[in-house]
Amino acid sequence: MSAARRILSVVGARPNFMKLAPLARALTAREGTAHVIVHTGQHYDPEMSDSFFKDLGIPAPDENLEVGSASHAQQTAAIMQRIEPVLLARGPDLVLVYGDVNSTVAAALVAAKLGIAVGHVEAGLRSRDWTMPEEINRVVTDRLADLLFTPSRDADENLRAEGVPAERIHFVGNIMIDSLVASLPKARSLGALARHKVESRSYVLVTLHRPSNVDDAAALKSLLEALETLSEREPVLFPVHPRTRARIRDAGVTPRANGRLHLLEPIPYLEMLGLVDQAALVITDSGGLQEETSYLGVPCLTVRPNTERPVTCTQGTNRLVEPRGEAVLAAAEQVLGRGTGEGRMGKPAKRIELWDGHAAERIAAVIETYLARHNKQRV
Ligand code: UD1
Repeated sequence: MSAARRILSVVGARPNFMKLAPLARALTAREGTAHVIVHTGQHYDPEMSDSFFKDLGIPAPDENLEVGSASHAQQTAAIMQRIEPVLLARGPDLVLVYGDVNSTVAAALVAAKLGIAVGHVEAGLRSRDWTMPEEINRVVTDRLADLLFTPSRDADENLRAEGVPAERIHFVGNIMIDSLVASLPKARSLGALARHKVESRSYVLVTLHRPSNVDDAAALKSLLEALETLSEREPVLFPVHPRTRARIRDAGVTPRANGRLHLLEPIPYLEMLGLVDQAALVITDSGGLQEETSYLGVPCLTVRPNTERPVTCTQGTNRLVEPRGEAVLAAAEQVLGRGTGEGRMGKPAKRIELWDGHAAERIAAVIETYLARHNKQRV
Protein backbone atom coordinates (compact mmCIF):
# COMPACT_ATOMS: atom_id res chain seq x y z
CA MET A 1 0.00 0.00 0.00
CA SER A 2 1.48 3.36 -0.90
CA ALA A 3 -0.18 6.55 0.33
CA ALA A 4 0.30 9.05 3.14
CA ARG A 5 -2.09 6.98 5.28
CA ARG A 6 -2.57 3.25 4.79
CA ILE A 7 -5.57 1.93 6.64
CA LEU A 8 -6.91 -1.60 6.68
CA SER A 9 -10.40 -2.43 7.97
CA VAL A 10 -11.30 -5.92 9.13
CA VAL A 11 -14.94 -7.00 9.17
CA GLY A 12 -16.56 -10.40 9.37
CA ALA A 13 -20.09 -10.47 10.71
CA ARG A 14 -23.36 -8.77 9.86
CA PRO A 15 -23.30 -6.01 12.52
CA ASN A 16 -19.80 -4.96 11.38
CA PHE A 17 -20.95 -3.91 7.93
CA MET A 18 -23.18 -1.00 9.05
CA LYS A 19 -20.21 0.37 11.00
CA LEU A 20 -17.78 0.00 8.11
CA ALA A 21 -19.92 1.66 5.42
CA PRO A 22 -19.83 5.30 6.57
CA LEU A 23 -16.19 5.10 7.63
CA ALA A 24 -15.11 3.60 4.29
CA ARG A 25 -16.76 6.61 2.63
CA ALA A 26 -15.24 9.14 5.02
CA LEU A 27 -11.75 7.67 4.73
CA THR A 28 -11.65 7.47 0.96
CA ALA A 29 -12.96 11.04 0.75
CA ARG A 30 -9.71 12.19 2.41
CA GLU A 31 -6.82 12.82 0.13
CA GLY A 32 -3.76 10.68 0.74
CA THR A 33 -5.67 7.83 2.36
CA ALA A 34 -5.56 4.29 0.98
CA HIS A 35 -8.22 2.06 2.53
CA VAL A 36 -8.26 -1.71 2.18
CA ILE A 37 -11.15 -3.94 3.31
CA VAL A 38 -10.54 -7.47 4.58
CA HIS A 39 -13.58 -9.71 5.10
CA THR A 40 -12.82 -12.66 7.37
CA GLY A 41 -15.73 -14.71 6.03
CA GLN A 42 -17.19 -15.25 9.55
CA HIS A 43 -20.57 -14.59 7.92
CA TYR A 44 -20.79 -15.94 4.40
CA ASP A 45 -24.43 -16.55 3.42
CA PRO A 46 -25.39 -13.94 0.80
CA GLU A 47 -28.24 -12.67 3.00
CA MET A 48 -25.88 -12.29 5.99
CA SER A 49 -23.10 -10.53 4.07
CA ASP A 50 -23.32 -9.67 0.33
CA SER A 51 -26.77 -8.07 0.64
CA PHE A 52 -25.36 -5.69 3.27
CA PHE A 53 -22.42 -4.66 1.09
CA LYS A 54 -24.88 -3.96 -1.71
CA ASP A 55 -27.48 -2.08 0.39
CA LEU A 56 -24.82 -0.01 2.12
CA GLY A 57 -22.76 0.71 -1.00
CA ILE A 58 -19.58 -0.78 0.47
CA PRO A 59 -16.85 -1.56 -2.08
CA ALA A 60 -16.21 -5.30 -2.51
CA PRO A 61 -13.63 -6.57 0.01
CA ASP A 62 -10.03 -6.59 -1.22
CA GLU A 63 -9.48 -9.91 0.52
CA ASN A 64 -11.78 -12.61 1.85
CA LEU A 65 -10.27 -15.04 4.36
CA GLU A 66 -13.23 -17.44 4.04
CA VAL A 67 -13.00 -18.78 7.57
CA GLY A 68 -16.67 -19.78 7.85
CA SER A 69 -18.32 -21.18 10.99
CA ALA A 70 -16.61 -23.21 13.70
CA SER A 71 -16.18 -23.24 17.48
CA HIS A 72 -14.98 -19.96 18.99
CA ALA A 73 -11.40 -21.20 19.35
CA GLN A 74 -11.27 -22.65 15.86
CA GLN A 75 -12.86 -19.62 14.23
CA THR A 76 -10.70 -17.11 16.12
CA ALA A 77 -7.55 -19.11 15.42
CA ALA A 78 -8.37 -19.46 11.70
CA ILE A 79 -8.85 -15.71 11.39
CA MET A 80 -5.55 -15.08 13.18
CA GLN A 81 -3.62 -17.52 11.01
CA ARG A 82 -5.08 -16.23 7.77
CA ILE A 83 -4.86 -12.52 8.52
CA GLU A 84 -1.23 -12.43 9.63
CA PRO A 85 0.25 -12.85 6.11
CA VAL A 86 -2.26 -10.31 4.76
CA LEU A 87 -1.15 -7.71 7.29
CA LEU A 88 2.49 -8.46 6.59
CA ALA A 89 1.99 -8.15 2.83
CA ARG A 90 -0.18 -5.03 2.93
CA GLY A 91 1.78 -3.25 5.69
CA PRO A 92 -0.93 -0.85 6.89
CA ASP A 93 -0.24 2.02 9.31
CA LEU A 94 -3.47 1.29 11.14
CA VAL A 95 -5.84 -1.66 11.42
CA LEU A 96 -9.46 -0.79 12.17
CA VAL A 97 -11.71 -3.32 13.88
CA TYR A 98 -15.43 -2.95 14.57
CA GLY A 99 -17.81 -3.98 17.35
CA ASP A 100 -17.40 -7.15 19.36
CA VAL A 101 -17.43 -10.24 17.16
CA ASN A 102 -14.75 -12.92 16.94
CA SER A 103 -13.28 -11.27 13.82
CA THR A 104 -12.74 -8.09 15.87
CA VAL A 105 -10.64 -9.62 18.64
CA ALA A 106 -8.74 -11.97 16.32
CA ALA A 107 -7.60 -9.18 14.00
CA ALA A 108 -6.75 -6.83 16.87
CA LEU A 109 -4.54 -9.45 18.51
CA VAL A 110 -2.59 -10.19 15.35
CA ALA A 111 -2.12 -6.52 14.48
CA ALA A 112 -0.98 -5.62 18.01
CA LYS A 113 1.61 -8.41 17.99
CA LEU A 114 2.92 -7.20 14.64
CA GLY A 115 3.35 -3.74 16.16
CA ILE A 116 0.64 -2.22 13.95
CA ALA A 117 -1.58 0.44 15.54
CA VAL A 118 -5.15 -0.71 16.18
CA GLY A 119 -8.30 1.43 16.14
CA HIS A 120 -11.47 0.05 17.70
CA VAL A 121 -14.77 1.43 16.43
CA GLU A 122 -17.47 1.05 19.11
CA ALA A 123 -15.07 0.81 22.03
CA GLY A 124 -15.84 0.86 25.73
CA LEU A 125 -19.23 -0.89 25.82
CA ARG A 126 -19.58 -3.25 28.78
CA SER A 127 -22.38 -5.61 29.79
CA ARG A 128 -20.28 -6.89 32.71
CA ASP A 129 -21.60 -10.32 31.75
CA TRP A 130 -18.59 -12.54 31.25
CA THR A 131 -20.78 -15.38 29.95
CA MET A 132 -21.25 -13.37 26.73
CA PRO A 133 -18.53 -14.13 24.18
CA GLU A 134 -18.90 -10.55 22.96
CA GLU A 135 -17.96 -9.15 26.39
CA ILE A 136 -14.68 -11.05 26.30
CA ASN A 137 -14.09 -9.77 22.77
CA ARG A 138 -14.84 -6.18 23.83
CA VAL A 139 -12.54 -6.16 26.86
CA VAL A 140 -9.61 -7.81 25.07
CA THR A 141 -9.94 -5.63 21.96
CA ASP A 142 -10.03 -2.44 24.00
CA ARG A 143 -6.93 -3.51 25.91
CA LEU A 144 -5.11 -3.95 22.59
CA ALA A 145 -6.32 -0.80 20.86
CA ASP A 146 -4.34 2.43 20.46
CA LEU A 147 -7.35 4.45 19.34
CA LEU A 148 -10.66 3.79 21.08
CA PHE A 149 -13.68 5.34 19.36
CA THR A 150 -16.62 5.41 21.77
CA PRO A 151 -20.33 5.81 20.95
CA SER A 152 -21.48 7.18 24.32
CA ARG A 153 -20.18 8.81 27.52
CA ASP A 154 -20.70 5.65 29.60
CA ALA A 155 -18.19 3.91 27.34
CA ASP A 156 -15.58 6.60 28.14
CA GLU A 157 -16.20 6.06 31.84
CA ASN A 158 -15.83 2.28 31.49
CA LEU A 159 -12.48 2.71 29.75
CA ARG A 160 -11.18 5.26 32.25
CA ALA A 161 -12.18 2.93 35.11
CA GLU A 162 -10.11 0.18 33.46
CA GLY A 163 -7.09 2.46 33.33
CA VAL A 164 -7.08 3.25 29.62
CA PRO A 165 -5.08 6.48 29.14
CA ALA A 166 -7.36 9.42 28.37
CA GLU A 167 -5.49 10.33 25.17
CA ARG A 168 -6.50 7.02 23.60
CA ILE A 169 -10.23 7.56 24.18
CA HIS A 170 -12.16 9.46 21.51
CA PHE A 171 -15.86 10.09 22.04
CA VAL A 172 -17.13 10.25 18.46
CA GLY A 173 -20.77 9.12 18.70
CA ASN A 174 -22.60 6.18 17.23
CA ILE A 175 -21.53 5.16 13.75
CA MET A 176 -24.51 2.78 13.32
CA ILE A 177 -26.64 5.91 13.36
CA ASP A 178 -24.57 7.32 10.47
CA SER A 179 -25.72 4.39 8.35
CA LEU A 180 -29.28 4.75 9.58
CA VAL A 181 -29.47 8.47 8.81
CA ALA A 182 -27.94 7.99 5.35
CA SER A 183 -30.25 5.07 4.50
CA LEU A 184 -33.59 6.08 5.98
CA PRO A 185 -35.08 7.88 2.94
CA LYS A 186 -34.28 4.91 0.70
CA ALA A 187 -35.50 2.42 3.32
CA ARG A 188 -38.81 4.30 3.59
CA SER A 189 -39.34 4.27 -0.17
CA LEU A 190 -38.92 0.51 -0.60
CA GLY A 191 -42.45 -0.54 0.28
CA ALA A 192 -41.31 -3.09 2.85
CA LEU A 193 -44.62 -2.95 4.74
CA ALA A 194 -46.68 -3.71 1.63
CA ARG A 195 -44.35 -6.57 0.76
CA HIS A 196 -44.94 -8.12 4.18
CA LYS A 197 -48.65 -7.20 4.16
CA VAL A 198 -48.51 -5.22 7.39
CA GLU A 199 -49.63 -1.73 8.33
CA SER A 200 -47.77 1.07 10.03
CA ARG A 201 -47.60 0.63 13.86
CA SER A 202 -49.65 -2.55 13.63
CA TYR A 203 -47.04 -5.29 13.76
CA VAL A 204 -44.30 -6.58 15.99
CA LEU A 205 -40.79 -7.18 14.65
CA VAL A 206 -38.64 -9.83 16.34
CA THR A 207 -35.01 -10.95 16.14
CA LEU A 208 -33.42 -13.50 18.48
CA HIS A 209 -30.02 -15.11 18.01
CA ARG A 210 -28.02 -14.95 21.27
CA PRO A 211 -26.83 -18.37 22.41
CA SER A 212 -28.41 -17.68 25.84
CA ASN A 213 -31.86 -17.39 24.21
CA VAL A 214 -31.74 -19.90 21.40
CA ASP A 215 -29.26 -22.64 22.35
CA ASP A 216 -31.40 -23.89 25.24
CA ALA A 217 -34.39 -25.76 23.76
CA ALA A 218 -36.72 -25.03 26.71
CA ALA A 219 -35.92 -21.27 26.66
CA LEU A 220 -36.39 -21.12 22.90
CA LYS A 221 -39.70 -22.99 23.08
CA SER A 222 -41.04 -20.68 25.78
CA LEU A 223 -40.09 -17.58 23.74
CA LEU A 224 -41.69 -18.98 20.58
CA GLU A 225 -44.89 -19.78 22.47
CA ALA A 226 -45.02 -16.20 23.72
CA LEU A 227 -44.65 -14.93 20.15
CA GLU A 228 -47.45 -17.24 18.97
CA THR A 229 -49.76 -15.82 21.63
CA LEU A 230 -48.69 -12.26 20.81
CA SER A 231 -49.38 -12.83 17.12
CA GLU A 232 -53.05 -13.36 17.89
CA ARG A 233 -53.08 -9.68 18.80
CA GLU A 234 -50.73 -8.24 16.12
CA PRO A 235 -48.90 -9.93 13.25
CA VAL A 236 -45.34 -10.84 14.20
CA LEU A 237 -42.52 -10.67 11.65
CA PHE A 238 -39.53 -12.73 12.76
CA PRO A 239 -36.53 -12.80 10.39
CA VAL A 240 -34.68 -15.85 11.65
CA HIS A 241 -30.88 -15.89 12.02
CA PRO A 242 -29.35 -19.12 10.62
CA ARG A 243 -28.20 -20.10 14.10
CA THR A 244 -31.76 -19.73 15.44
CA ARG A 245 -33.23 -21.61 12.49
CA ALA A 246 -30.90 -24.53 13.20
CA ARG A 247 -31.86 -24.52 16.89
CA ILE A 248 -35.59 -24.41 16.07
CA ARG A 249 -35.06 -27.42 13.83
CA ASP A 250 -32.96 -29.25 16.45
CA ALA A 251 -35.55 -28.60 19.16
CA GLY A 252 -38.33 -29.85 16.87
CA VAL A 253 -40.45 -26.82 17.73
CA THR A 254 -43.13 -26.04 15.19
CA PRO A 255 -44.97 -22.81 15.89
CA ARG A 256 -48.79 -23.06 15.73
CA ALA A 257 -49.88 -22.20 12.21
CA ASN A 258 -52.18 -19.26 12.92
CA GLY A 259 -50.82 -17.46 9.86
CA ARG A 260 -49.74 -14.42 11.90
CA LEU A 261 -46.33 -15.48 13.23
CA HIS A 262 -44.09 -15.21 10.18
CA LEU A 263 -40.71 -16.95 10.41
CA LEU A 264 -38.75 -15.28 7.60
CA GLU A 265 -35.31 -15.54 6.04
CA PRO A 266 -32.79 -12.88 7.23
CA ILE A 267 -33.84 -9.51 5.80
CA PRO A 268 -31.46 -7.11 3.97
CA TYR A 269 -30.45 -3.90 5.74
CA LEU A 270 -32.67 -1.38 3.94
CA GLU A 271 -35.80 -3.51 4.08
CA MET A 272 -35.18 -4.23 7.76
CA LEU A 273 -34.71 -0.53 8.51
CA GLY A 274 -38.01 0.19 6.75
CA LEU A 275 -39.71 -2.38 8.99
CA VAL A 276 -38.05 -1.18 12.21
CA ASP A 277 -39.07 2.41 11.46
CA GLN A 278 -42.80 1.61 11.34
CA ALA A 279 -43.10 -1.21 13.89
CA ALA A 280 -45.42 -0.93 16.89
CA LEU A 281 -42.82 -2.79 18.90
CA VAL A 282 -39.45 -4.48 18.39
CA ILE A 283 -38.49 -7.51 20.47
CA THR A 284 -34.82 -8.40 20.15
CA ASP A 285 -31.57 -9.56 21.66
CA SER A 286 -29.46 -7.71 19.08
CA GLY A 287 -27.18 -4.83 20.02
CA GLY A 288 -27.81 -2.68 16.96
CA LEU A 289 -31.60 -2.80 17.17
CA GLN A 290 -31.53 -1.35 20.69
CA GLU A 291 -29.78 1.66 19.18
CA GLU A 292 -31.83 1.96 15.99
CA THR A 293 -35.16 1.82 17.85
CA SER A 294 -33.90 4.39 20.34
CA TYR A 295 -33.00 6.75 17.52
CA LEU A 296 -36.32 6.19 15.73
CA GLY A 297 -38.49 6.38 18.87
CA VAL A 298 -39.86 2.85 18.41
CA PRO A 299 -40.46 0.87 21.64
CA CYS A 300 -37.96 -1.94 22.11
CA LEU A 301 -37.92 -4.89 24.49
CA THR A 302 -34.49 -6.46 24.82
CA VAL A 303 -34.68 -10.09 25.88
CA ARG A 304 -31.57 -10.09 28.04
CA PRO A 305 -30.70 -9.64 31.70
CA ASN A 306 -28.26 -6.82 30.88
CA THR A 307 -27.12 -4.52 28.14
CA GLU A 308 -23.78 -3.00 27.15
CA ARG A 309 -25.80 -0.08 25.75
CA PRO A 310 -27.40 1.42 28.90
CA VAL A 311 -27.95 4.77 27.21
CA THR A 312 -30.72 3.13 25.13
CA CYS A 313 -32.61 2.46 28.39
CA THR A 314 -31.92 5.76 30.14
CA GLN A 315 -32.36 8.04 27.12
CA GLY A 316 -33.91 5.86 24.43
CA THR A 317 -36.91 3.56 24.10
CA ASN A 318 -35.31 0.32 25.26
CA ARG A 319 -36.37 -1.83 28.20
CA LEU A 320 -34.77 -5.04 29.39
CA VAL A 321 -37.05 -7.99 29.82
CA GLU A 322 -36.32 -11.27 31.53
CA PRO A 323 -35.63 -14.00 28.96
CA ARG A 324 -38.80 -15.99 29.74
CA GLY A 325 -41.84 -16.34 27.51
CA GLU A 326 -44.34 -15.05 30.10
CA ALA A 327 -42.20 -12.02 30.93
CA VAL A 328 -41.81 -11.12 27.25
CA LEU A 329 -45.53 -11.53 26.61
CA ALA A 330 -46.53 -9.42 29.62
CA ALA A 331 -44.14 -6.62 28.67
CA ALA A 332 -45.23 -6.68 25.01
CA GLU A 333 -48.90 -6.53 25.92
CA GLN A 334 -48.16 -3.60 28.17
CA VAL A 335 -46.54 -1.67 25.31
CA LEU A 336 -49.22 -2.58 22.77
CA GLY A 337 -52.03 -2.00 25.25
CA ARG A 338 -51.31 1.67 25.43
CA GLY A 339 -53.82 2.23 22.65
CA THR A 340 -53.39 4.25 19.51
CA GLY A 341 -51.55 7.50 19.15
CA GLU A 342 -48.40 8.68 20.73
CA GLY A 343 -48.30 6.15 23.57
CA ARG A 344 -48.50 3.27 21.16
CA MET A 345 -45.85 4.71 18.87
CA GLY A 346 -43.42 5.32 21.63
CA LYS A 347 -42.05 8.77 22.21
CA PRO A 348 -39.49 10.38 19.97
CA ALA A 349 -36.32 9.61 21.85
CA LYS A 350 -34.46 12.46 23.43
CA ARG A 351 -31.56 12.90 21.02
CA ILE A 352 -28.57 11.03 22.37
CA GLU A 353 -25.33 13.01 22.35
CA LEU A 354 -23.45 12.68 19.04
CA TRP A 355 -25.88 10.15 17.58
CA ASP A 356 -26.16 12.56 14.69
CA GLY A 357 -24.96 10.84 11.52
CA HIS A 358 -21.44 12.32 11.63
CA ALA A 359 -19.44 9.85 13.72
CA ALA A 360 -17.46 8.59 10.71
CA GLU A 361 -16.17 12.06 9.84
CA ARG A 362 -15.03 12.54 13.43
CA ILE A 363 -13.24 9.18 13.38
CA ALA A 364 -11.53 9.98 10.07
CA ALA A 365 -10.31 13.30 11.48
CA VAL A 366 -8.87 11.66 14.62
CA ILE A 367 -7.11 9.05 12.47
CA GLU A 368 -5.58 11.70 10.24
CA THR A 369 -4.14 13.59 13.22
CA TYR A 370 -2.95 10.40 14.90
CA LEU A 371 -1.18 9.05 11.81
CA ALA A 372 0.38 12.40 10.98
CA ARG A 373 2.04 12.34 14.41
CA HIS A 374 2.75 8.61 14.46
CA ASN A 375 4.23 8.40 10.94
CA LYS A 376 6.40 11.48 11.58
CA GLN A 377 7.81 9.86 14.73
CA ARG A 378 8.74 6.76 12.73
CA VAL A 379 10.60 8.63 9.97
C1 UD1 B 1 -22.09 -13.44 15.56
C2 UD1 B 1 -21.46 -12.64 16.70
C3 UD1 B 1 -22.54 -11.89 17.45
C4 UD1 B 1 -23.40 -11.06 16.51
C5 UD1 B 1 -23.93 -11.94 15.40
C6 UD1 B 1 -24.75 -11.16 14.41
C7 UD1 B 1 -19.45 -13.62 17.70
C8 UD1 B 1 -18.92 -14.31 18.91
N1 UD1 B 1 -20.79 -13.51 17.65
O1 UD1 B 1 -22.94 -14.41 16.15
O2 UD1 B 1 -21.94 -11.03 18.39
O3 UD1 B 1 -24.46 -10.48 17.24
O4 UD1 B 1 -22.83 -12.56 14.73
O5 UD1 B 1 -25.34 -11.99 13.47
O6 UD1 B 1 -18.68 -13.22 16.86
N2 UD1 B 1 -24.31 -19.20 10.08
C9 UD1 B 1 -24.79 -19.41 8.83
N3 UD1 B 1 -24.44 -18.52 7.83
C10 UD1 B 1 -23.65 -17.46 8.06
C11 UD1 B 1 -23.15 -17.25 9.35
C12 UD1 B 1 -23.49 -18.12 10.36
O7 UD1 B 1 -25.51 -20.37 8.58
O8 UD1 B 1 -23.39 -16.68 7.10
C13 UD1 B 1 -24.70 -20.12 11.17
C14 UD1 B 1 -23.72 -21.26 11.37
O9 UD1 B 1 -24.45 -22.38 11.72
C15 UD1 B 1 -22.92 -20.81 12.57
C16 UD1 B 1 -23.94 -20.02 13.37
O10 UD1 B 1 -24.79 -19.40 12.39
O11 UD1 B 1 -22.37 -21.86 13.28
C17 UD1 B 1 -23.33 -18.98 14.25
O12 UD1 B 1 -22.49 -18.09 13.49
P1 UD1 B 1 -21.29 -17.28 14.22
O13 UD1 B 1 -20.69 -16.31 13.29
O14 UD1 B 1 -20.41 -18.26 14.91
O15 UD1 B 1 -22.04 -16.51 15.37
P2 UD1 B 1 -23.39 -15.67 15.33
O16 UD1 B 1 -24.39 -16.38 16.16
O17 UD1 B 1 -23.78 -15.29 13.94
